[in-house]
Amino acid sequence: MKVLILAAGLGKRMKSKYPKVMHKILEKELVNWVIDTAKELNPTEIGVVLGYKGELVEKILPEGIKIFYQKEQLGTGHAVMSAEEFLNDEDILILYGDTPLITASTLSKLIDKHKNTNADATILTAILDNPAGYGRIVKDENGKFINIVEDADASEEEKKIKEINSGFVIFKGDKLKNALKELKPNNNQGEYYLTDVPKMLENVETYVLEDFSEALGINNRIQLTNAEKILRKRILENLMLNGVTITDPDTVYIGPDVKIGQDTIIYPMTFIYGKTEIGEDCEIGPMTRINNCQIGNNVKILRSECEDAIVKDNVSVGPYSRLRTGTVLNEKVKIGNYVETKKTIVGKGSKAQHLTYLGDATIGEDVNIGAGTITCNYDGKNKHKTFIGDRVFVGSNTALVAPVKIENDVLIGAGSTITEDIPEGSLALGRARQVTKENWVFNKREKGE
Ligand code: UD1
Ligand code: CA
Repeated sequence: MKVLILAAGLGKRMKSKYPKVMHKILEKELVNWVIDTAKELNPTEIGVVLGYKGELVEKILPEGIKIFYQKEQLGTGHAVMSAEEFLNDEDILILYGDTPLITASTLSKLIDKHKNTNADATILTAILDNPAGYGRIVKDENGKFINIVEDADASEEEKKIKEINSGFVIFKGDKLKNALKELKPNNNQGEYYLTDVPKMLENVETYVLEDFSEALGINNRIQLTNAEKILRKRILENLMLNGVTITDPDTVYIGPDVKIGQDTIIYPMTFIYGKTEIGEDCEIGPMTRINNCQIGNNVKILRSECEDAIVKDNVSVGPYSRLRTGTVLNEKVKIGNYVETKKTIVGKGSKAQHLTYLGDATIGEDVNIGAGTITCNYDGKNKHKTFIGDRVFVGSNTALVAPVKIENDVLIGAGSTITEDIPEGSLALGRARQVTKENWVFNKREKGE
């Protein structure tokens, strides 16, 4: 079986500069929701039909997707014609790029019915109380499929039909290919409707959705938000049923590709997106945002931002820390209040607990980075590296001017500005000596100054 996703429409009602399918739910574009659902079905190939600003959509598609262009948007049937070379004898499942709620398990049932009945086409339908706007499924008194009538073309009688076309349909590839040759735009919208194809075939089946919300399409931004609510709830409930505590699901947002281990607790106002993986027994949040991070077991992250970082077991982060791209925190590291890290590897058991910036640095094991330490990694033009060995003690308010190398077991006095490499086991002091003038203040006062 192949899958073809129609995503050429402009999506006028979104009132957007960008193609509709690029709008995001939980940080993932609509079209990628549909592609990832399609992938779960293990098709031989996935194709996408692009049109309006398709070059922008192309950039966000994963590898291995066949792309077709529909130059003018002349209807859903025309969109499939634009991918004519994609069609062969295999079954072809048509999905819409603006319907991200559909699940692979429902599609599998549709595919099973299609195979078991040896149908030419099997249409996924839904029964809606308010079917306005959708194509209606017209059947005879025996329940046999006759036709799909689009809302714009329906008679008053037909508009009363509650069974609607979800848009998802599977065809025998060769039958679809032949029928498309005969398809005409004879309707009120002057479009080539894909929905006019089934009536041209002999053996058409329907499969009714159990949960009609899976058919909800997104045409405006209110529907975008409503779809997000449904998908968010689905993800959170699935995590909770699999052993993750989410103390306040109303304020927690978790993306569809996030994995979280058993007995981890997610506190309120927490946002976890991208390909993040979190281990077991962690405490995440409140007020934390994590994107594309690998997080081990028994990690605590409190009121912090983490992006593209790797965090090993038994680490604690925050409150108010920021782990930026390329951060690696090894086991038992402690990153505390107002600490920022970027492209920095911190060795096992090391600590940077207060008010620190660590950028382009490699830090050994059991290092103590004092409050207010800054790696001065940028000279205005280039970034430079800082190397710190094992068991180094960096006194508070130290500026490490990179490139600089500090070997094992060094002790740096507080308030130092370090511009030169320091050999193993040394004490380094890089500050002006203190001058104390006794009675200086009293003498001034006596003179009335
Ligand atoms: C379509 C169906 C309707 C169904 C409804 C379900 C047709 C004619 N109608 O209507 O029966 O009830 O979906 O949501 O198929 N697209 C293209 N090229 C085009 C036109 C559309 O690629 O020329 C794509 C759009 O990007 C979108 C999808 O096809 O992803 C559906 O198009 P849309 O215009 O939203 O169809 P509906 O009017 O919703
Ligand atoms: Ca639509």
